[in-house]
Amino acid sequence: MNKVALTYDDIQLIPDYSEISSRKNIDLKTLITRRYGLKIPLVASPMDTVCESEMAIKLMEKGGLGVIHRFMSIGEQKEEVKKVAEVKKTLYEDWGVMYDDWLGEIKDIPVAASVGANGDYFERTQELIKEGVNIILIDVAHGHHINVKKAIENIKGLSSEIDVISGNIATAKAAMDLQDWGADGLRVGVGGGSLCTTRIKTGFGVPNVSCLMDIINVTSLPVMADGGIRSSGDIAKALGLGSSTIMLGSLIAGTQESPGDIINRSGLYGLYKKYRGAASLETKTTHRQEQRNVEGESTLIPYKGGVGPIVDDLLDGVRSALSYNGSNNLRQFNPDWVQVTSAGQTEAKPHLMK
Ligand code: XMP
Repeated sequence: MNKVALTYDDIQLIPDYSEISSRKNIDLKTLITRRYGLKIPLVASPMDTVCESEMAIKLMEKGGLGVIHRFMSIGEQKEEVKKVAEVKKTLYEDWGVMYDDWLGEIKDIPVAASVGANGDYFERTQELIKEGVNIILIDVAHGHHINVKKAIENIKGLSSEIDVISGNIATAKAAMDLQDWGADGLRVGVGGGSLCTTRIKTGFGVPNVSCLMDIINVTSLPVMADGGIRSSGDIAKALGLGSSTIMLGSLIAGTQESPGDIINRSGLYGLYKKYRGAASLETKTTHRQEQRNVEGESTLIPYKGGVGPIVDDLLDGVRSALSYNGSNNLRQFNPDWVQVTSAGQTEAKPHLMK
């Protein structure tokens, strides 16, 4: 196959007739897996500078989800999951198991954690289940792989209550295979993250818009758009194409709730936090992994304060997007879009012109 592939900056959504009188009433509930629902479509990435319990709890309070990363001992990850599961018990009494005429029967706000597809993943999953995890995300760079097939089968064999999100994938064929293998949700995007060097190191990857379109076209599973999201406009585009949830890395890294210390170094103006790729040399060194197959970078990003206002701001943008399309909820949000030229991207924005 060789065809032109598009990414977020290549498209714009087209406004449509609207009767929305208040953006506040726009409902953003969605499915994260076959059986679990969220009140908002935002998910924190399982990276060691993005999501441990503090981030997961904050996002859960907002109605979203944080996936606890796996770059720690089984005991430590259990502790993180336990903290989230404990807070969950105090939240959402009104949610529970509910029926929605669009989403069907959906279970309460889930607790999620990631594992790999080899090494200790099986024992890790067993232990995480004991702490109340509902969703296991198999966190693998190339998810269209026999190890992932075996991992899905083994994890699903452990408990009928656990839903499995699998990825990362970039093709329709991979989506169909993962669905056949028993996945309950798909994590989509290869090489498109802000710190990814996969496309540079290997030449592989598919620009996000085309990748999402190809996959959403063939799967009935909820799709999580992962990587390369820089704004609420990107979120709106991914949702408009039919993604159910959006995974965030850089947008919510560098916050009070993201793991890691605030850095105040002489010579650097302002406060910073680390944001590093899961396959970066620094992550591998920190977690005593072999320093091979580095496919990510690490960076310092300006400290942003609490994640709450960032999430609120993103949701304001997404609700506004739905109002431009006349949609009251994500089921109705199916906007038409156009491909834009580079002139279209910089229209009336001289500061963006080179
Ligand atoms: P953003 O753009 O939100 O992307 O910062 C977050 C996503 O990037 C992926 N990720 C990586 N990809 N090498 C990669 O090729 C890495 O080291 C790496 N670390 C994270 C991941 O899918 C994440 O959710």
